[in-house]
Amino acid sequence: MEKKFSPHLALAKKYWQSHLAKNDLAIDATCGNGNDTLFLSGLCKVIALDIQEKAIENTKNLLAKNQAQAQVLLLPHEKIDTLNVTPNLIVYNLGYLPTGNKSLTTKVDSTLESIQKGLEILEAKGTLSITCYPGHEEGEREELAILDFVQSLPPFMWTVCHHRWLNRSKSPSLFWVVKKFAQKKAFGQNQ
Ligand SMILES: C[S@@+](CC[C@H](N)C(=O)[O-])C[C@H]1O[C@@H](n2cnc3c(N)ncnc32)[C@H](O)[C@@H]1O
Repeated sequence: MEKKFSPHLALAKKYWQSHLAKNDLAIDATCGNGNDTLFLSGLCKVIALDIQEKAIENTKNLLAKNQAQAQVLLLPHEKIDTLNVTPNLIVYNLGYLPTGNKSLTTKVDSTLESIQKGLEILEAKGTLSITCYPGHEEGEREELAILDFVQSLPPFMWTVCHHRWLNRSKSPSLFWVVKKFAQKKAFGQNQ
């Protein structure tokens, strides 16, 4: 069966392709079934994270089937700073596994914590790509909280973009947040 066309994911992939070089590092913060990890592994080095054993297994299987490489770790994305790396891209595809337990969805507080840490550890010109699904309750809360947070980022340091498909109610949306240059405490007020 042909896969459903998802314009937000197609757009995200175009961004990833234009942003990444072969020796770059991308972190897939929510690897799920491994589709995004597999795509990213064709572009650069990848570390993939998830909190579910099932997601780790699915991602490893998909990579093996396609003879692709990535480091796949059972680690909550809010501990992203413990990886001690400076990635060029961090990808969040929020929500729950489409065929899995819907209570194991990403959650506002840990997602915001992770995004803040992600912004800190990014390389100069590094980027966060965040796909939100406001069609379910927690997804709607996440999208609003992220919108609120990223709108407050100082423009001298960050370029922030939000894509939404306007003729669909509660359609998925994509945030693209680019760090202009490397700096500690990059989203604080007194730089
Ligand atoms: C929409 S799915 C990701 C789809 C995936 N990117 C793909 O290509 O198949 C969201 C994933 O986020 C994971 N997740 C939820 N909370 C998490 C957390 N705190 N840290 C890391 N992953 C988390 C879920 O287990 C689920 O696998």
